[in-house]
Amino acid sequence: MPHFDQKKAYAEQEEVFFDDGREIELLHYIYNKPDIDEIRGSPERVLAAIDEYGRTKKYLMNVGEDKGKIVCDLIAEVKPETMVELGGYIGYSCILFGNAVRKAGGKRYFSLERNPEFGAVISSLVDLAGLDDVIKVVVGSSDASIQRLYDSGKLKHIDLMFLDHYKPAYTTDLKLCEELKLVTPGSVLAADNVIKPGNPPYLEYVRSTVAEKRKKAESGDGENGPDARFGDRTAKQYAKRQGDEKLKTSKGNPNLVYESKLVNSYEPTGVPDGVEITRCTGEET
Ligand SMILES: C[S@@+](CC[C@H](N)C(=O)[O-])C[C@H]1O[C@@H](n2cnc3c(N)ncnc32)[C@H](O)[C@@H]1O
Repeated sequence: MPHFDQKKAYAEQEEVFFDDGREIELLHYIYNKPDIDEIRGSPERVLAAIDEYGRTKKYLMNVGEDKGKIVCDLIAEVKPETMVELGGYIGYSCILFGNAVRKAGGKRYFSLERNPEFGAVISSLVDLAGLDDVIKVVVGSSDASIQRLYDSGKLKHIDLMFLDHYKPAYTTDLKLCEELKLVTPGSVLAADNVIKPGNPPYLEYVRSTVAEKRKKAESGDGENGPDARFGDRTAKQYAKRQGDEKLKTSKGNPNLVYESKLVNSYEPTGVPDGVEITRCTGEET
């Protein structure tokens, strides 16, 4: 297990920890900083200002430095031309990874965020960081946004995808990407929060063999929306929000071969968590 530097810890996560005005407060905090002119155009300084707020003011549900480094190293290795993130919040991962994608020679980073207010915060901070040439913020539910980007021809392939949104949607969105052939051999997935709060159905899916996935697909298992292991209330709420029947019943592509491993790390508060790194290595016919 790696070491966590307690000096860098974010404020503790409260009972209500987002969507209570702190996202707009963060914007005021950053734009009122005395060194705002030096922050402009510097992704590193924008990230440092966000971290400072998270440490000295209020908790923010960002991927943080430790897990962020795991994904940045992956970006340097994979050198994605196109990277997609599901769940942008206030733009921390988007600025960190969008900058890494640009440095690695990549062209496009799509940040998919459902909440329009959060989307506006991301856009403001991406602009401040000078990354608006690479990063495109897409507001809407991830499944609808993936479908729309695909239909419009703006998204043809996903080289690297960061999953960090609604936990039951990790598997359904991955299956949609498989079905649209956005995820193919060569694609890499990095899924956050697989320890805290955990995501057993997603881990089971990406760690399954082709034979296991085919068997499940034939029996119709897993086609009726999110897995019951997330609890009835969550599953029902998610199902209610999904308007598109096709997306709900997406079978994915069980023939894709995945190699998957957990990388242990920490939340920015110091709570242990992990990122599941999954590489699509082939397709069985
Ligand atoms: C944990 S936060 C993302 C943190 C961000 N990736 C970071 O590390 O800086 C999860 C975000 O996912 C968004 N979200 C939840 N469900 C979504 C969905 N179906 N489509 C798009 N965004 C969603 C939430 O509004 C929230 O902003």
